[in-house]
Amino acid sequence: MPMPIGPWTLKNPWMLAPMAGVSEMPFRVIAFRMGAALCPTELVSAQGLMRSTPRTLKYLRHDSEVERPYSLQIFGGEPEVMARSAKVGKEYGAQIIDINMGCPVKKVTKTQAGSALLCDVPRAAEIVKRIIDATGLPVTCKIRSGWDASSKNYLEVANALQEAGCAALAIHPRTRAQGYSGRADWSVIADLKRNITRMPIIGNGDVKTVVDAHRMLRETGCDYVMIGRGALGNPWIFRELTGGAPATPEERRDLVLEHFRAHLQFVGDELNAVRSFRKHLAWYAHGLRGASVFRNQVNTLDTAGDVLRACEAFFGAALIDENDTSEQELDYRTALG
Ligand SMILES: Cc1cc2nc3c(=O)[nH]c(=O)nc-3n(C[C@H](O)[C@H](O)[C@H](O)COP(=O)(O)O)c2cc1C
Repeated sequence: MPMPIGPWTLKNPWMLAPMAGVSEMPFRVIAFRMGAALCPTELVSAQGLMRSTPRTLKYLRHDSEVERPYSLQIFGGEPEVMARSAKVGKEYGAQIIDINMGCPVKKVTKTQAGSALLCDVPRAAEIVKRIIDATGLPVTCKIRSGWDASSKNYLEVANALQEAGCAALAIHPRTRAQGYSGRADWSVIADLKRNITRMPIIGNGDVKTVVDAHRMLRETGCDYVMIGRGALGNPWIFRELTGGAPATPEERRDLVLEHFRAHLQFVGDELNAVRSFRKHLAWYAHGLRGASVFRNQVNTLDTAGDVLRACEAFFGAALIDENDTSEQELDYRTALG
């Protein structure tokens, strides 16, 4: 059993990573059902949350039966705003508050939020303290290894957050300057695990397969493994990690249809839902024969009925393409909007 996070003893060490525009309620619910022990929300603006703007409150929708514990990720740079927004989050059901200290996007870092907090360690620690005081909830943080190659201060950050009462620390071991380039440096995770003893360490970065996930646990000693891009189009990774089988073609078809219907309901507007689901369809189709033809086809469809029919036909018959060894392509900034 992995080290608890505050009062929460999680059932296994596997987590879904927060992903803007992806880890929305429908996908989180699927990942939980597949076996993930924790699926934090995508980053939610503390400013918007504090003011309870309708747009921000939409991000807080969750399934309280399935999403337990419900971890809400917020971003912001002002301790007072962060504390007040976390309180609002708690009123809406948050059971863990996760603080984004890794987002590299300028729109976020220019407000002292996201990975900019790595450059102001006292502020980062203050935010943790203030949220704990305001909510009494367990507070977790997600960091990168530093701002750039000359300032990899993850140990200093981790020590300060631990002192402030942080309940768990997720580390994506790339610097802010690296974005998504190069490889995640797992030795950083191992280094944190050796030096930080009072809070669990959540390793993250480049876990694409079940084998990678076990290797990260073994090689770094981390308490939990957080999977982002490796779960796109493949939430079954959590089922496999918890002893289950990979998806059968029928299961894949049924889940794609279920996900799409849930997404339609979640988004509320048919055209927006159809368009924003295209990325999921591309991921679900990845590695199947005829995937590129299918992707081109669905990119021209604008009604839910047409998409449902296309999915039934494609996923009902699709076979694995043994010749396709390409990596999934994904642009973080595009997904962030
Ligand atoms: C599309 C996308 C959106 C992301 N959004 C967030 C986010 O909202 N909050 C966050 O902390 N990290 C975010 N990340 C970073 C991931 O949580 C994770 O740290 C990163 O993708 C590395 O893990 P992976 O190699 O398993 O994908 C995002 C990543 C992607 C690809």
